[in-house]
Amino acid sequence: MKGIVLAGGKGSRLYPLTKITNKHLLPVYDKPMIYYPVQTLVDAGIRDILIVTGGNHAGDFLQLLGNGKEFGLSLVGYTYQEGEGGIADALKLAEDFVEGEKVCVILGDNIIEKDISAAVDDFRRQECGAKILLKEVDDPERFGVAEIEDGRVVNIVEKPKNPASHYAVTGIYMYDASVFEKTRMLKPSARGELEITDVNNAYIQEGTMTYSFLEGWWTDAGTFSSLLRASNLVAKDSKAEPHE
Ligand code: DAU
Repeated sequence: MKGIVLAGGKGSRLYPLTKITNKHLLPVYDKPMIYYPVQTLVDAGIRDILIVTGGNHAGDFLQLLGNGKEFGLSLVGYTYQEGEGGIADALKLAEDFVEGEKVCVILGDNIIEKDISAAVDDFRRQECGAKILLKEVDDPERFGVAEIEDGRVVNIVEKPKNPASHYAVTGIYMYDASVFEKTRMLKPSARGELEITDVNNAYIQEGTMTYSFLEGWWTDAGTFSSLLRASNLVAKDSKAEPHE
């Protein structure tokens, strides 16, 4: 299975921090943000990873991650998203890299506590379709929210005003190679982006979407408060230094 880290976008919610660097290079406790999603993929046994970046500081990713040796990667590729057309727009750029294999996609600002190997192994065994990881949250209106009926996800709504559940769709998605056909069918949403939620709903319509619940804590790091929360959560868990 191939891995993709999506690290495009402008990071405008973190301005002025993102005026002079890319959001995914900002520190989360003792490491640059992008180290965490890369490590999540590596811990799940994925060794071929594509980084999709964008904006004005794209060259810094190469300087930081180099050939991926530090993470034990066999291959790290880089590509560049022009503009900020949305998560599914960034994903489109990975088609040639994926070469018909299954793929595990992670958003560059999603940081998690535990290993996702079990879910990734389940998806390796899944014949086709997609798999998402859900997490119960107090503030579902900030995320894509899953509606579940009889043990199946029947719909996902992006940032709903009246959420159908407290189950946020985390930024970790597993897809078969038909994901690229699905991205070609998308139309921009009201916020002018190609939405990953529309891709996921296409799999739901097809009846091939599965899910599991993410264990341990999960946070994004794309706002000042979530960036601080991410650092605090990592610091609390860090075995490298005793925390005060
Ligand atoms: O964090 C999980 C949530 O991420 C999901 O629950 C939502 O369904 C999903 O839409 C997404 O919501 P956000 O509004 O938080 O996404 P955001 O625009 O902050 O982008 C998250 C990451 O996706 C960002 O760190 C880099 C990547 N991205 C985003 C955009 C808009 C790109 O690579 N290119 C883009 O054009």
